[in-house]
Amino acid sequence: MCGIIAYLGEREAYPILVKGLERLEYRGYDSAGIAILKDNFIQLNKVVGKVNNLKSTTINGDIGISHTRWATHGIPNEANAHPHHNGDRSLFLVHNGIIENYVNLKKELIKRGYQFYSDTDTEVLTKLIDYHHKNSANQNTLKAIKNALHEVVGAYGLVLINKNEEKIYAARKGSPLVLGIGQREFFVASDPAAFLEHTRRALYLEDDDILEIDRKNFQVHNLHQDCDKLKRNVDHIKWNLSNIEKNGYEHFMLKEIHEQPDTLRNCLAGRIDMENHDSKFTDKLQPEFVKNLNKIIIASCGTSWHASLVIKHLIEKYSRIKVDVEYASEFRYKNPIINKNDLFVAISQSGETADTLAALKTAKENGLRCFGIVNVVGSSISREVDSGNYIRAGSEIGVASTKAFTGQVLCGILLMVHLGKIKGTITNQTAEKILNNLKNIPDLVKQTFEEEEKIKEIAKFVATKNNCFYLGRGLNIATALEGSLKLKEISYIHSEAFPAGELKHGPIALIEEGMPIIVIANKNEGIVYDKLLSNVQEVKSRKGKIIVIANDNDREIQDNVGEDSYVIRVPEVPDYLQAIINSVPLQLLSYYVAKERGCEIDQPRNLAKSVTVE
Ligand code: M6R
Repeated sequence: MCGIIAYLGEREAYPILVKGLERLEYRGYDSAGIAILKDNFIQLNKVVGKVNNLKSTTINGDIGISHTRWATHGIPNEANAHPHHNGDRSLFLVHNGIIENYVNLKKELIKRGYQFYSDTDTEVLTKLIDYHHKNSANQNTLKAIKNALHEVVGAYGLVLINKNEEKIYAARKGSPLVLGIGQREFFVASDPAAFLEHTRRALYLEDDDILEIDRKNFQVHNLHQDCDKLKRNVDHIKWNLSNIEKNGYEHFMLKEIHEQPDTLRNCLAGRIDMENHDSKFTDKLQPEFVKNLNKIIIASCGTSWHASLVIKHLIEKYSRIKVDVEYASEFRYKNPIINKNDLFVAISQSGETADTLAALKTAKENGLRCFGIVNVVGSSISREVDSGNYIRAGSEIGVASTKAFTGQVLCGILLMVHLGKIKGTITNQTAEKILNNLKNIPDLVKQTFEEEEKIKEIAKFVATKNNCFYLGRGLNIATALEGSLKLKEISYIHSEAFPAGELKHGPIALIEEGMPIIVIANKNEGIVYDKLLSNVQEVKSRKGKIIVIANDNDREIQDNVGEDSYVIRVPEVPDYLQAIINSVPLQLLSYYVAKERGCEIDQPRNLAKSVTVE
C-alpha cells in the first residue's frame, strides 16, 4: 500500500509528481504530500484525502519526493501524511511498508532526546536515519541510511532527500521500487505507471538495494556490503499509457470489465498447442516432477483466493491431482504439512501482496518448487518464483479486481490441461476439446455484455438493500464468493456467499422479505442443478427476491424461479469455463449497484489495490 514517486531532472518536479501520484492512487488515497528541494531548502505540502487536493498550490524546484498514503500507523490526518522530516528539516522521507519494531526504536530515540509530531512508523525511521546521519563521520547520508536500516525489522520502499545534496536516495526491502531512466532525468516510483509518460526505461530494485541518484548518474549499492556498486538490468516497459487511462469509460472498473474479451485473448495467445493436444503454459515444469507430484498448494488472497478455489476444483476433477488452497495470510503461521514433491503456486494480480509473498518465501525455505500466476510483470512474486506465467491482463487500476480474476482462472485451466496431459489423466481427445472451447471464450464473454441493460435495472433494486446473499453449488461456490466480495467492497452492502445446500443449516434465518438472493444456476450442472432449484424454493418461501444467473438455453428457468424473479442470461459453457462466464454479469451487477449508490467505485473506502502490508 502507499504510492511513491520521486523526481530529479531539469523540469519542474511538482506537476510531474502530482500526475505520477494520481496514477498511483490505486495504492492508497487517505492523504498525500510532496517535498521539493531548491537552493538548500526543502518545502513541504501535505493534504488529507486525495491527490487532487495537492493541486491548489505548487512549489518550484526540480528535485522532489511524494507519497499517497494508505493509513497503517495513525489516522489519515496531515501530521501522519508523508513526507516526514527530521527536527531541523534537512532530511525528508517517504515510505511504503511497515517498520515492525518502530515502538522500540521510538523509545530509544526519545531517550536520545528526539520528539515526535506524528503516530507513524515512518517518522521513527526518518529520525533514526537522522540520528545516524548526525553521528556518522562526515555526515554521510548513504552510510546513515545503511546504519538505520540495519536496525529496522519490517518492510520498506523508501525515498529520501537531504537539503544539502542534489541527490535522491532510495532503498527497498519487501515493498516495490523502480527507477525510471529518462533524458537527463530520473524517477523513482512504486510502479512504472507513475512515470510511463516520461520514460519506458526501468530498473527494478531488489531487496537490500540502495539507490543513489545525482544529476548525472545513478548507482545501486547493497545494504550489507561496503564499496559496492551493483549491476542491474534495465528493462524496456512494453505496455502503453492507454492501459492506465480510462479511455472514455466513467470508471476504470467498467473499462476493465469490458476489456475481458481482449485480455482473455491475450492470455491465450501462443499458449494453445493443437498439434500436441496440450497447453504451452508451463515449459519449466519438468514431466518427471509432475509425474511424481504429491499435491499442489495454492496460496493467495481475496479475489485471487477465489480464483484459486476454481482452479482447485478443476485440477482435482480433470488432472486428478490433490490441491490445497491456503489463505496466504495464514500459511506461514500454521506449520504447514509440506512434502518435497509438492508444487507451490502463488496467485496474485499485483505480484506484491505481502501475505502471498510471505507464503511464497515460506514455501521456498521449505525447498518447494514454486510457480507463479501473476499479472504485474517484474513484480516481486514474479521474480521470486522458480517459474510461472503471466496473466497478461494489462494494468488493473480499479481496486475491485475483475479482468485479473478471469485471467487467473484461464491460466488455471491451461495449467490443468498441461498437468493432466503429463499425468495421463486428460486424453488427447479431451485436451483437444478443452483447447477448442478455450478459443471461444473471448467471444462468449462478449455475449454476456448483452445483458448489461437488464443488469442496470436489477442494480436499481439491489442498491436499495442492506443485505444480500450469493448462492452456488460445486464450482459456482467460488464464483458466488467472488460476486459477493465484489458487491461488498464497492457498494458497502453487507453480503455473504454460501454453498446453496448450507443455507438451511443456519443462514436461512437471516432471509427477510425482499432480500436479494443471487443464485448461480448452470443447467449442465446435472443433479446439482435440480437441488439448487429446491434451494431457490426454500428462499422464495421466506420471501427472498431471487436474481438468477442462468444459461440462455434454459427455457424452464423463469417458470422454476417464478415470474417475480430476475433472470440474467449467460451462454452455456462446459464447467471449466463457467467461473469466467458467470463472474462477468456479477461484476457488472456490483458496478451498477455501487454507481446507483453514488460510491467511489475505483477507490472504495478503507481499501487499496496493492496490499503490501501483512
Ligand atoms: O494483487 P493480489 O491479487 O495478490 O491481491 C489480492 C487481494 O488483495 C485482491 O484480490 C482484493 O481482494 C481485491 N480488492 C478484490 O477485488
